[in-house]
Amino acid sequence: MKVQKGWSCSVFFLFYMTHFAWTQKFDVIGPSTDIFALLGEDVTLPASLSPPLNAQGFEVMWVQKDLQSVVLLYQDFRIRNEYQIQAFKGRTSLFPEELVSGNVSLRLQDVHISDGGLYRCLVASGQWNEDAHLTLNVEVVGTQPSISISTTEDQQTRLECSSEKWSSQPEVTWRDMNGVDVTSQSTLTVQRDDEGLLRVNSVIPIKWEFNVFSCLMRSNTTRPAYQSKMGVYVFSPNVSGWSVVFWLLMALCVTATVLLILKWRRMRRESRNC
Ligand SMILES: *[C@@H]1O[C@H](CO)[C@@H](O)[C@H](O)[C@H]1NC(C)=O
Ligand SMILES: *[C@@H]1O[C@H](CO)[C@@H](O)[C@H](O)[C@H]1NC(C)=O
Repeated sequence: MKVQKGWSCSVFFLFYMTHFAWTQKFDVIGPSTDIFALLGEDVTLPASLSPPLNAQGFEVMWVQKDLQSVVLLYQDFRIRNEYQIQAFKGRTSLFPEELVSGNVSLRLQDVHISDGGLYRCLVASGQWNEDAHLTLNVEVVGTQPSISISTTEDQQTRLECSSEKWSSQPEVTWRDMNGVDVTSQSTLTVQRDDEGLLRVNSVIPIKWEFNVFSCLMRSNTTRPAYQSKMGVYVFSPNVSGWSVVFWLLMALCVTATVLLILKWRRMRRESRNC
């Protein structure tokens, strides 16, 4: 009788534990800020359960924008590819070894521009469900800036630094030979192309004297500054074609004169010696 009582007690305890585990409430915790990814990169969209329950037996669904666009569905202990929308085929996964600790983050490979936007992560335990959202911003870093020189109608010489295919407006910085920031003298124009990406032009007037200019374009989003592009322009008005010819002729004249004088002196010395 005693033994039986102990046994039923532990059965009850086991039942209670399982029941407790399956009805336990949880939150899905997403990131507190937007996620940034460069075009073509792989990115992790973080989400985890709090408390960190084992999510292996749960249903995890990542959707984009509306509930119809299934990015990934995990159900019955496996990924259900048949529900995934075409745009994400072969590019998504969970971290299987992390599910046990409630980490339901999504791995997204080879980020496309169209991947940007709102995501929701829904987790259901059978008795309880919760979700989290996050925003993915896909950044495109523009082309290498190219610098060209032009002269306006009123004889003003100016440099124009252009770059295209930026997803967000970059910060433009002009510096001269001494590293001085001369950006305040420049004017910026931004146009949107057919793809929705930005074409950026910055124009700066320059003086007719030797100088070296750099034009730095840098994405101003929260990520580090490595996504910047720079162009350099050496402005040297004195090394134009004509001035080279002029200085060459000048040098020839000087040399010839020196040689003539030397020769003349030698001739005079020789004639005196005679
Ligand atoms: C979830 O797992 C991934 C891959 O190991 C890791 O990068 C991420 O930091 C984890 N997230 C949390 C909240 O532990
Ligand atoms: C980035 O630049 C844009 C336009 O110049 C500005 O509206 C935005 O606030 C800037 N963002 C940051 C994080 O500095």
